[in-house]
Amino acid sequence: MAGGTENLEALEAEAHEAIAAAGSVQALREVRARFLGRKGSIAALLRGIGALQPDERGPVGQAVNAAKERVEALAQQREAAIVGEQQARSVAEHRLDVTLPGAAPPVGGLHPVTVVECEMIDFFTGLGFSIEDGPEVETEYNCFDALNIAPDHPSRDLHDTFFVEGGHVLRTHTSPVQIRAMTGRTPPFRFIAPGRVYRHDHDATHAPMFHQIEGFMVDRDVTMAHLKGVLHAFARRLFGDDVRVRFRGHFFPFTEPSAEIDFWWNDRWLEWGGCGMIHPQVLRNCGIDPEQWQGFAFGMGIDRTAMDRFGIPNIHLMLDGDVRVLEQVR
Ligand code: DAH
Repeated sequence: MAGGTENLEALEAEAHEAIAAAGSVQALREVRARFLGRKGSIAALLRGIGALQPDERGPVGQAVNAAKERVEALAQQREAAIVGEQQARSVAEHRLDVTLPGAAPPVGGLHPVTVVECEMIDFFTGLGFSIEDGPEVETEYNCFDALNIAPDHPSRDLHDTFFVEGGHVLRTHTSPVQIRAMTGRTPPFRFIAPGRVYRHDHDATHAPMFHQIEGFMVDRDVTMAHLKGVLHAFARRLFGDDVRVRFRGHFFPFTEPSAEIDFWWNDRWLEWGGCGMIHPQVLRNCGIDPEQWQGFAFGMGIDRTAMDRFGIPNIHLMLDGDVRVLEQVR
């Protein structure tokens, strides 16, 4: 059956071409159905064999079956190739470069005031100081009188102090914690008192609420030399070993002698805080005999220290809580 075999060759060539052209598994499935399926053209050829001369049926049947197997094998090959290509494409598309920096998840951080406050606390607890606390709404007595601040002292002025009903004030400094901590206690002791304070002030370098840290130590033979040594070490801890500090004579009603401490930072002297030897009258006001005991005290702004440390020019930038600013200080 020469004609039948020619048909077969043409059909097989057509099938090979269609398989090669199939670009997807779906397209290949259709090609398969067309040639290899029950209703496909090869099946039709096989069905036609019955009509042939008996001696032709065997060889033609074998030829058709052999062609069918070749087409089937080719289709399988093609399918494997298509799947392989798809996988390669998908790998290329979803390629993951593990060396790229990751997207940082948003995480919180400590506020610069908290960072500095924690360092301050860490430094002083390391020297054996304990932490004392006091209320932000304070009596006028603790805030001023007990600290030897005379009734006509300018710091009591309406322009500085927020007065609260009932003769109380929002504490203008952390020094009243000295009174609370010393009253009823017998020296020796050393305390720090970090906390919020309030003043009627509002400009680029002043906010109505800010933070101070108070420190004081009372013992039988505490001297100004201890004060200077402790504060110099404190400055080194916050600003590095090379920091220079200086003490300038000053006046505070609650210390005698009194000084201000400055430190050298970014090519200039910056005021840091006040300090001195606790005034005998303050000790007496707390029931401590100044003939037997003496101590030093100091107080400085935590916000100011954080601003100097991190180069923040305006206190409101730091206290307003804008995360775009705070994120730069980590
Ligand atoms: N209380 C002072 C202020 O707010 C700071 C201060 C100065 C505290 C001298 C002290 C000190 O303990 O000895 O400005």
